[in-house]
Amino acid sequence: TVDQKVNDLLSRMTLKEKIGQMNQNSYFGLSDADIDKMPDLGLDENLRNIKVSEAQIAKMSRKDKIQYLKKQVLSGLDQSILQPIRKGEVGSLLNVVDPEMVNLIQKTAIKESRLGIPLLIARDVIHGYKTIFPIPLGQAASFNPEVVEVGAQVAAREARSVGIHWTFAPMMDISRDARWGRVAESLGEDPYLAAELGLAMVKGFQDGGNLKSNQSVAACVKHFVGYGAAEGGRDYNSTNIPPALMRNVYLAPFEKSIKGGAATLMTSFNDNDGIPASANKFLLKDVLRDEWGFKGVVVSDWASIAEMIPHGFAKDGEQAAELSANALLDIDMVSHTYHNHLEKLVDEGKVSMETIDAMVRNILRLKYDMGLFDNPYIDTKQKTPFYAPQHLEAAQKAAVESAILLKNEGVLPLNINTKIAVVGPLADAPHDQMGTWVFDGEKEHTVTPLKALQTTHKNIDYVYEAGLKYSRDTNTSQFDAVKQAVEKADVAVVFVGEEAILSGEAHSLSDINLIGKQSDLIREVKSVGKPVVVVIMAGRPLTIERDLAYSDAVLYNFHPGTMGGPAILDLLFGKENPSGKLPMTFVREVGQIPMYYNHNNTGRPAPEKVMTLADIELEAGQTSLGNTSFYLDSGRDPLFPFGFGLSYSTFEYSNLNLSAQTLTTNDILKVTVDLKNTSNYAGTEVAQLYVRDLFGSIVRPVRELKGFQRVTLQPGETKSVVFELPISELAFYGQDGTKKVESGEFKLWVGTNSNADLESSFQVK
Ligand code: IFM
Repeated sequence: TVDQKVNDLLSRMTLKEKIGQMNQNSYFGLSDADIDKMPDLGLDENLRNIKVSEAQIAKMSRKDKIQYLKKQVLSGLDQSILQPIRKGEVGSLLNVVDPEMVNLIQKTAIKESRLGIPLLIARDVIHGYKTIFPIPLGQAASFNPEVVEVGAQVAAREARSVGIHWTFAPMMDISRDARWGRVAESLGEDPYLAAELGLAMVKGFQDGGNLKSNQSVAACVKHFVGYGAAEGGRDYNSTNIPPALMRNVYLAPFEKSIKGGAATLMTSFNDNDGIPASANKFLLKDVLRDEWGFKGVVVSDWASIAEMIPHGFAKDGEQAAELSANALLDIDMVSHTYHNHLEKLVDEGKVSMETIDAMVRNILRLKYDMGLFDNPYIDTKQKTPFYAPQHLEAAQKAAVESAILLKNEGVLPLNINTKIAVVGPLADAPHDQMGTWVFDGEKEHTVTPLKALQTTHKNIDYVYEAGLKYSRDTNTSQFDAVKQAVEKADVAVVFVGEEAILSGEAHSLSDINLIGKQSDLIREVKSVGKPVVVVIMAGRPLTIERDLAYSDAVLYNFHPGTMGGPAILDLLFGKENPSGKLPMTFVREVGQIPMYYNHNNTGRPAPEKVMTLADIELEAGQTSLGNTSFYLDSGRDPLFPFGFGLSYSTFEYSNLNLSAQTLTTNDILKVTVDLKNTSNYAGTEVAQLYVRDLFGSIVRPVRELKGFQRVTLQPGETKSVVFELPISELAFYGQDGTKKVESGEFKLWVGTNSNADLESSFQVK
């Protein structure tokens, strides 16, 4: 069995070799793509530098030159990465993506290290390797686990073909603060949605659980835990998540994925209540290992073990290594803290050999499970599946289903004969459209809306005038030209949003209005008098209330990836019908943050129609401000609630029916509702089920998502939608710290977003 093999190998390892397995290095070497991008001049220059004669250079083709150079790069690897591999000092490598290099590295490990243990090759393949899917927040808007699973499958297939075994996704940090740049990489604000979609992503990466398949990469659920609650949305910041909230919200998606087979997990950068995640023994040992039974690999985030020194939690590297090792954190990503200190710590008895063995076992087990001992090599003659037609098709479907129609005053869908003025910096931004965390996708393969008009959608009549070069551009000198272009068209389509670099890791913002002069551009366009469709491509929910007033329709796309252009045009012209729903609440003002639908009630909830300062000024004699919980200037409500998204179709919910009014914890409640398409367009609606536990040993959220279904309906068609809700799903961690369903009254809603008003109730005995 694998365990026997692992134990046998372990029994032959020296302490140094064991520590080697726990050490991950990074190597940002030259990939084929890097070399291809070199100008010819650069190639010759490089060849001269390594003493290739002019005569030889003259005889070489461009391909020969690249091959020659690559060989040099490969042989030049010795010092930086091959030597420690020979000595058994490295167990995994981050960021090598060249198949030949991967093979050389594996050959060195197998043939030249004492025990011949293959390496795990890792890379951040977050929303696609070459074929880029919408950013994870966009994928979450599809409310479609299948779309998410297929996206991860495609990414795995492409990545594995160059030798990558391990990706650092899905990120399942519950994200309720749009200032935080990493919301882009998250699955949104809701633990149920994030858990369902996160598990789908794990399945996709891991080829449905078959880690040995050559189409699979090990998934890594991250960041454990609480990172999304970083104070003020400032990346890496402290979090202060109390125990029940930690369990009921932040840990919930992790638990689901771990129990669903995720092979690895990454610790986060933040400290929670003063304890950095990479040394949180309670979470890493008691919860993850003992309670959930996780036998996979735990890896630190980049240098997060060593970063406990500046955190002020470890006085030096030695103590940092001791704290993390004793919390059972298996692999040190790049900080070399384990490499430098673990041996001494074991000698001094501060970290036991049993602890080391337990961690090394996890790592070796993964290598066996992935079949690396059988064959760690890549067949370099086999064609890579990059940008395969079915991959592009899946990426386009994902982009279609991720788009959210926020407003439509009768202008969309456009008639195919409509002449459009294409305006704005995101109309042709191939790099930005891919979004954050794209190392390997090439902008040359991105189909922007403009490129789609020139290639796949040639039948559409358009004029193009960008107006602004990129999202932060403040030069308005082209605005007159834009207005002239709009004059020539029937409808203006303004593509605005964020450059990729404005979201992602360490890209937090304190102002999340449309950046630069983009709002001015929308207003200028509107002043021409033609209908204005605003298409937004961004890495986060932006505060767009002011822009709505100048838009007749708004289609929101979290950076949609390689195939965003054709997807958006199909949506605008009605070949596709929008069906995306918001995975995060859209606030009206940044000052409303954090604002999320599943909050607790205060003892003084604001009534539906709340006073704002403006109302108060109108009401002579008003003396009370209402004494309830709301903002005087921006009221009680967000701009758009969680789960919101329009369609060209209209849907009607009726006949809400429950299979029982009184249930026990072992029962399954069957919730049935009729859903009718009351329009002339075929369309897909995401029907959502919310529940409220009216009283609890701790205050319960005002609503919690407990089910969702995508339902496709022809014009006039009605379907009966059935949700099966196991009552056990209503369990939560209450005041005594245990998880159980508390008996009592529950309310339930089914509808089109988190404000759904078709309501019923039931009791749990
Ligand atoms: O996977 C990432 C992580 O999310 C943030 N820090 C770096 C890691 C590896 O690149």
